[in-house]
Amino acid sequence: MRDDENLTTERPTFVTHLECAMSGERYEADRLHNLSRAGKPLLVRYDLSGVRNALNKNTLARRPADLWRYRELLPVRRLADIVSLGEAVTPLIRLPKLSAKLGGGEILVKDEGRLPTGSFKARGLAMAVSMGKALGVTHMAMPTNGNAGAALAAYATHAGIRSTIFCPEDTPEVNVSEIALQGATVYRVNGLIDDCGKIVGEGKAKVGWFDVSTLKEPYRIEGKKTMGLELAEQLGWDVPDVIFYPTGGGTGLIGMWKAFAELEAIGFIGTKRPRMVAVQAAGCAPMVRAYDAGEEHAPRWENAQTIASGIRVPQAIGDFLILRAVRESKGFAIAVSDDKISAALDEVARMEGLLMCPEGAATYAAYKQSLAEGRVTRHERVVLFNCASGLKYPLPPVHHALDRHKPIDFAAF
Ligand SMILES: Cc1ncc(COP(=O)(O)O)c(C=O)c1O
Repeated sequence: MRDDENLTTERPTFVTHLECAMSGERYEADRLHNLSRAGKPLLVRYDLSGVRNALNKNTLARRPADLWRYRELLPVRRLADIVSLGEAVTPLIRLPKLSAKLGGGEILVKDEGRLPTGSFKARGLAMAVSMGKALGVTHMAMPTNGNAGAALAAYATHAGIRSTIFCPEDTPEVNVSEIALQGATVYRVNGLIDDCGKIVGEGKAKVGWFDVSTLKEPYRIEGKKTMGLELAEQLGWDVPDVIFYPTGGGTGLIGMWKAFAELEAIGFIGTKRPRMVAVQAAGCAPMVRAYDAGEEHAPRWENAQTIASGIRVPQAIGDFLILRAVRESKGFAIAVSDDKISAALDEVARMEGLLMCPEGAATYAAYKQSLAEGRVTRHERVVLFNCASGLKYPLPPVHHALDRHKPIDFAAF
């Protein structure tokens, strides 16, 4: 097996059409699309019985460990269109000390910080940019809370596509810098991500760029879907009992839910599903409010504020898909305060040596809270998503210092 086999071997593809997630209306594959006529996200559909005949678990097991191993369940038709920066399979890391401390079940962290640009946004943008390249896009634009913009910049530049990116003015400095360094033009906007999204929407007609906003094009979700494919394969074609996912626009949660359905249809997993838990910050929790109220849609959350910038999304276009997945899976939506997020980040780093991002730490805080409230039992195996490297965020200062010219008090160590 060559290490780059997934990027050098043509494989059959099985996309049949796209479908409006709300009305089910069909759209032609291999065309540029944004939202459906109903103004809702489009989902990619495959000939799953064709995939079932073309792919088995043993063939898959022999392929190199990257995202492109799932080619038959991905939309990119031609090898030449794949835009890759090395999307490695991300590890599942056990937290045995914390599990023992809490008296909980097995805790596994899917550490997405290992991906190019240090976050899981690489999965979605690798796919969207590859499809953009296949369909002749020359300029892409998006609103971002940071990580998605960094991934778009990197992949678009790698593909030779121009990118223009808008982020809230208080987006973490490292994100703004990496976006610019990786070849995009980036603007800070005095508003939130949905305000940035309006600028991208208006520019579509005026500038002619392609809008790559979350769920406003159909392929980012196909990239994020690979988190579910990977997770099931890593667990020996099984799913965990519960998944805690830090939810902003919700692409990953929706994508994983789609992945499990497709895996069942091709006979790789059975009917068991994890309970999907949408984790939000108390200062921006539109999904939690809608879930608690039994609503199908989640109105805008005003004055959104949280240190977990990736999940500061006041309104999500895929709200009904997030809520549907949460309810169908018998999961729930839960909010955690910024104080609990900071404490969780600290606890996981100090006890297990794993530096999470604030959004990832929110899932640990949510797990703790859910265990204490009996929403999750101590027999359940849980997977927490750490969606970005903790190194991308401002870290607390350290005050220990030594003067090497003075006698050192070794008794103090
Ligand atoms: C680190 C991190 N976690 C979680 C999210 C939310 O992801 P999603 O849009 O899939 O809900 C984001 C999105 O920006 C993020 O950057």
